[in-house]
Amino acid sequence: MRTLRTIAELRTALRGPRAAGVRIGLVPTMGAFHDGHLSLMRRAREECGLVVVSLFVNPAQFNEGGDLESYPRDEQRDASMAAEAGVDLLFAPDAEEVYPPGFATTVSVSGITEVLEGAHRGRAHFDGVATVVTKLLNIAAPEIAYFGQKDAQQALVIGRLVRDLNIDVEIEICPTVREHDGLAMSSRNVRLGAGERQQALALTRSLQLAARRAGAGATETEQLITEALSELEHAGVQTEYFQIVNSQTLEPITRLNGPALAVVAARVGNTRLIDNQQLTTHTDRLTTASNAGASADVSAAGSQ
Ligand code: PAJ
Repeated sequence: MRTLRTIAELRTALRGPRAAGVRIGLVPTMGAFHDGHLSLMRRAREECGLVVVSLFVNPAQFNEGGDLESYPRDEQRDASMAAEAGVDLLFAPDAEEVYPPGFATTVSVSGITEVLEGAHRGRAHFDGVATVVTKLLNIAAPEIAYFGQKDAQQALVIGRLVRDLNIDVEIEICPTVREHDGLAMSSRNVRLGAGERQQALALTRSLQLAARRAGAGATETEQLITEALSELEHAGVQTEYFQIVNSQTLEPITRLNGPALAVVAARVGNTRLIDNQQLTTHTDRLTTASNAGASADVSAAGSQ
C-alpha cells in the first residue's frame, strides 16, 4: 500500500489503472479505524480492482472546536490496518491541500440536512461533509464509493448530492458494525470511560426496544418514543433526540405502516454518540413473507 499526500499524486497513480479499465473503489474516512471502517474497505476490496481510502479529519464539518482537537489520530496504526485490509492507496492530504488559501466554494444540500444531525450540529456540519465528499469524488473519480449506515443521514445527503450534481458514481451503503454487546462502533468510543461505556449501551437498548415493540405490532410512534426516552434517561445519558422517521425523507412518522428508521443522538459524558436501526413492522414481515412465497413459486415453476 502506498500513502499519497497530494491530489496530483493521487490523480497520477489512478490514470494508468483507469485507462486499463480497472474498477476504482473509494472509502472516505477520517481515520481512527475500527471494524466499521474495515468492513467498508473489505467490501471495496471484493468489488473493485483498485481500492483508495482517504484519511482526512475534515475541519469544515466539526462544529465544536474541542471535538476537532480531541479527534483520535494515529496515522501509522491506520495505515497498517488499511494495508492489512488490502487497500492499495491511502490518500492522506493535509488541510492546506484540501482547502488552499482562497478556497470559497460550499456544497450545500437543503431539506434532509435541516433535521436531526443538521438541527443539532448546525448547518455547517453537513455543508462540510457535502463539500469534502464532492471534492473526494471529483479527485478520485471512483466507480463506487462506500459509506456506512451508521451515519444514515450522512449517507442520504451523499446520495442526494450525487444525484443532484450528476456525479457519475455508485454509492454503496454498508451495514453498521457493532461491538459484541451491540454498541455501534465509532471512532469516538475510545473516549468513553469504563462507566460511560456501560451507559452508552442505553442507545442500543433504546433502539432495540423500539424495534421489538414495532415487530410485535405497536404502531403509535409516540408511545415507542416515550419508552425509548425513558430507557435513555434511566441510564443517565443526555439525549439530544430519539425519533422515528421515514428512512428516505427523514420526516417524523406518527403511525408505523411500513419500514421506518429509529434514530438516536445522546451525550455520554463529553462524548456525543449517534446510532440508528431500521424498524420492521408486523405487516412488513407478513408482506415480505408472502413475497418470498411468491418468488419461491416462480423459481419452483422455472425449475420444472
Ligand atoms: P468517519 O466517521 O471516519 O466514517 C467513515 C465511514 O465509515 C462513514 O461512511 C461511516 O458511516 C462509516 N462507519 C463509521 N462507523 C461505522 C460502523 N460502526 N459500521 C459501519 N460503517 C461505519 O463519516 C465520516 O468519517 C466523514 O463524515 C466523511 C464521510 C469521511 C467525510 O469527511
